[in-house]
Amino acid sequence: MRVLGIETSCDETGIAVYDSEQGLLAHTIFSQIELQAPYGGVVPELASRDHSRRALPLVQAMLEEASLTGKDINGVAYTKGPGLVGALMVGAMLGRALAFGWGVPAIGVHHLEGHLLAPFLEPSPPAFPFLALLVSGGHTELVHVKSFGHYQVIGDTLDDAVGEAFDKTARLLGLNYPGGAALAKMAELGDPKRFHFPRPMIDRPGLDFSFSGLKTFALNTVEKNGNDMQTQADIARAFEDAVVDTLTIKCKRALQQTGLQRLVVAGGVGANTSLRCALRALCEKHNATLYFPRQEFCTDNGAMIAYVGCQRLLAGERADLSVDVKPRWGLEEI
Ligand code: KG4
Ligand code: ZN
Repeated sequence: MRVLGIETSCDETGIAVYDSEQGLLAHTIFSQIELQAPYGGVVPELASRDHSRRALPLVQAMLEEASLTGKDINGVAYTKGPGLVGALMVGAMLGRALAFGWGVPAIGVHHLEGHLLAPFLEPSPPAFPFLALLVSGGHTELVHVKSFGHYQVIGDTLDDAVGEAFDKTARLLGLNYPGGAALAKMAELGDPKRFHFPRPMIDRPGLDFSFSGLKTFALNTVEKNGNDMQTQADIARAFEDAVVDTLTIKCKRALQQTGLQRLVVAGGVGANTSLRCALRALCEKHNATLYFPRQEFCTDNGAMIAYVGCQRLLAGERADLSVDVKPRWGLEEI
């Protein structure tokens, strides 16, 4: 089965074709970062408008480039939620309409299930069950992935997502949205000994996270120490060390608690080099195997939606003609 995937839950328009026999045939992405950066975050109305402007031309260009036409597609998958309601509506309506026009089935996919299963787009995917750390601008979750479709969220953030904490702290240091990667670069020049940020929630049992205190801590540190370049780098370093340490401690706890021996890291913050190193060391010490989807499939993309949609369509699931989206949708409610 050959499935077109459409991802429009936030500020990336992702389009892809996944074939159950041949794997990923084509994928393309358009990021709204330049459009959204002047506003310091994602403006939902602008996101919806840009998706509606880009999505269909992207579908056409990608199909042409892969020498495919609508006749080669046997199903359409779109992101049904969670995400920005208007943005989701654009992808869902387009996906449903294309499926209707082509006379093929459609399916709405859970965005986070896409992230969890993105490693299956790679040549050596993990076997079930595994532990997944989802870290992006919108999510910070530890998930026990038991098998396809069976997910248990064992840790979640009580406030800011980890990427959001990176972006807010980056903004404080004068970096443009989304500042996570730029903050990480700045941190390379920072002195790790100058400031010590707290490791939130590690002295409490459990696997939940809380990151909003860190940006306040960063703000207070700026106010006390000024904002010259070296101080900024030192703050970036202390912030990053605190986040990486906290995530690593919680992953260690989760591996011990569940007895799992495979760890998948997904989401934009998974690009962070220092986090990758820390988790690699953790897994080596605990005889666990670490999996990362390739960089472009860590962040939002259409390939992961096409992959999950393909599995669900093969299992006989279908969306009906009345399109609905779920802006709020827990992983365990799938
Ligand atoms: O998964 P993603 O592309 O989008 C969603 O939020 O769904 O994740 C984007 C987030 C942003 O907050 C960005 O600042 C952060 O990932 N990010 C990073 C790095 N690269 C991207 N955070 C820390 N270090 C990085 N190298
Ligand atoms: Zn995402």
